[in-house]
Amino acid sequence: MIMNKIPVYQPNLSGNEKKYVNDCLDSNWISSKGKYVSLFERGFADYVGVNHATGVCNGTVALHLALVALGISAGDEIIVPTLTYIASVNAIAYTGAIPVFVDSLADTWQMNPQEVRESITPRTKAIMAVHLYGHPCEMSVLKEIADQHKLFLIEDCAEAIGSKYQGHHVGTFGDIATFSFYGNKTITTGEGGMVVTNDQTIFERATHFKGQGLAKYREYWHDVIGYNYRMTNICAAIGLAQLERVDETIQKKCRIADLYKELLKDTNFQVHPEIGDVFHSYWMVSILVSQASDRDQVRQLLTEAGIETRPVFYPVHAMPMYAQKYQRHKVAEDIGWRGINLPSYPDLEVDQIVYICESLKGFKLESI
Ligand SMILES: Cc1ncc(COP(=O)(O)O)c(C=O)c1O
Repeated sequence: MIMNKIPVYQPNLSGNEKKYVNDCLDSNWISSKGKYVSLFERGFADYVGVNHATGVCNGTVALHLALVALGISAGDEIIVPTLTYIASVNAIAYTGAIPVFVDSLADTWQMNPQEVRESITPRTKAIMAVHLYGHPCEMSVLKEIADQHKLFLIEDCAEAIGSKYQGHHVGTFGDIATFSFYGNKTITTGEGGMVVTNDQTIFERATHFKGQGLAKYREYWHDVIGYNYRMTNICAAIGLAQLERVDETIQKKCRIADLYKELLKDTNFQVHPEIGDVFHSYWMVSILVSQASDRDQVRQLLTEAGIETRPVFYPVHAMPMYAQKYQRHKVAEDIGWRGINLPSYPDLEVDQIVYICESLKGFKLESI
């Protein structure tokens, strides 16, 4: 049985999205002023459990803004996992700072705290924790290291809306945290992002740099080189409608992950697990195939069955612009070459998941 093509991701826009966007159009508030921006920012801050949130135009600039707000600049070293999406590292490079790569833990796929500790030098300014695919990092240890060495702790929560560590939403542990609302994220605004913090001064610095460095005391007077990283009212309108249904979306995603785990439990495909006192929101359900050499064949088999997949991120230290220094990060390399992201969107149906898992099992039978 071949079903209609099953994408890796697609958003669900069936709530108040259209109503709120039409309200923007009808009222002429389509740019970055308008009530939806502040409603979405407030609602999102409350959802995460932080004092402040400021909307921006995507998750990459959210990271850049966070680094700028912390005063990160040329020559500073920022410790970052190599197993991440390229944006985490590029944002560091935009500031002139140097990304210092660390490997991941084999079980959770998150940055290895022991390697973080060993990578600290007198130039280290911050640790950037990335909650990859929705599994939280080991935040209590990372926070302890940051406090002990007086480093900033930045959380890249682009993939971790709804994820919790010891009962608290990710993004509440560090000095500043960022989110992405790209079309395939748990909440989408089309393109969009958010910077959150509990620190009033850091928040004020972030909003200052986000809005062209406009001085508070005089109109059209700018006292720093800022950026236009603002979110539009239309994006915020979509975001607010998405936020109204976030719990339902996350519940659906977790049910999907549970079903994949159940159906693949006696196979050679290992589903990315949830480990520790955490809530893994399963932005993407990912599997590891037994051998890197099988991955392309497995993906090809699924493609032929009408199932779209993605390779897990390749480790960034291996990419040309970051590979000047020879490095090995064996866990990240192993996961990066054996991992596959399976369809993970909230409206994925049970019979589609059964079909995907049956297709995967077909590979196992042929190859073993
Ligand atoms: C870990 C991580 N960081 C940052 C980003 C950047 O977000 P955006 O695509 O909204 O710029 C993403 C997005 O895909 C991501 O997965």
